[in-house]
Amino acid sequence: MKITVVGAGNVGTACATEMAEKEIAEEIIILDVKEGVTQGKALDIWQASAIQSFDTRVEGVSKDYSATKDSDVVVITAGLPRKPGMSRDDLIHTNAIIVKEVTENVVKYSPDAILVIVSNPLDVMTYAAFLASGKESSKVFGMAGLLDTARYKSFIAKELNISPKSIHAILMGGHGDSMVPLPRYTTVAGIPVTEFLSDDKLNVIIDRTKKGGTELVNLMGTSAWYAPGAAAAQMVEAIVKNSRRVFPVCAALNGEYGLKDLHLGVPVVLGKNGIEKIIELKLNEAELKLVLNSAKQVKELMKILDDMNIFKKKYGSVNPV
Ligand code: NAI
Ligand code: 2OP
Repeated sequence: MKITVVGAGNVGTACATEMAEKEIAEEIIILDVKEGVTQGKALDIWQASAIQSFDTRVEGVSKDYSATKDSDVVVITAGLPRKPGMSRDDLIHTNAIIVKEVTENVVKYSPDAILVIVSNPLDVMTYAAFLASGKESSKVFGMAGLLDTARYKSFIAKELNISPKSIHAILMGGHGDSMVPLPRYTTVAGIPVTEFLSDDKLNVIIDRTKKGGTELVNLMGTSAWYAPGAAAAQMVEAIVKNSRRVFPVCAALNGEYGLKDLHLGVPVVLGKNGIEKIIELKLNEAELKLVLNSAKQVKELMKILDDMNIFKKKYGSVNPV
């Protein structure tokens, strides 16, 4: 297996390190526009192989897409991260140009690769990569729900003083303030979380989850990378091992949840073909209302991308319902 990570920044290198240490592929290529630092970071990761005991070869290249040829999976983290005071949506114009260029180059050398998008604003960049790739939607999808769910689970684990391994949960919607954590589908080893936490306590955790990215931007002056890198690596692992794990993933919807022509976080089965299946939860009225609200907000951002006129195909204006 060969994996490419585009973007040798914080998230890209965290993701590559995690994948190398877990030996989920024979080879990892890290590509960035930056000369020197890209090769240096890859060399640094590779030199940890003797300490961490891994065989995965790690190489860094600057702009040379021929080195990425025949990758099985490509993780796209290229683009600007947000700074304090910025929303993820402020990044659309800059990052759409970058994601378009990167995706076109990646597909030229690896036409069969599965693409995992990480660049923000996530749902719109997944839409951009999908349009730029010309590939079927089951092979181009985005990482955000896994990170947001991890934050939600970690807050519950801390509140209850219980291992995060025993917290199971799912979260839907866009990667922004409109995301929808789902307490009805949250358990502590199968026991409903509502048997452990009051509505008030859960609401505090849900609110903190929604603002989880902003909390870290304010603390660090740039956005998070350890958990995002690990989340993207976990998605790649499920694909290369064909493990058919159920993860919340930003996927193109075509009628699921009564929604179409948009990219939104939903539970899916991930395997060797990418998205093997989109799972349709039997949401109650209140939950569906929150998901529809999130869909509406993502649509508004998709329209901003459409208005850039960088793609012939556009469906940001199509009513999602
Ligand atoms: P960073 O600034 O550390 O790294 C980004 C890298 O992209 C830089 O090294 C830059 O040189 C590179 N780059 C820019 N244009 C490029 C091009 N045309 N081709 C190749 N490489 C190019 O940023 P960081 O923290 O790694 O974040 C990367 C992206 O991921 C940001 O858009 C950020 O908002 C997003 N993100 C998304 C998350 C999610 O849950 N989906 C979570 C965390 C970050
Ligand atoms: C995060 O949620 C900024 O999307 C990034 O940390």
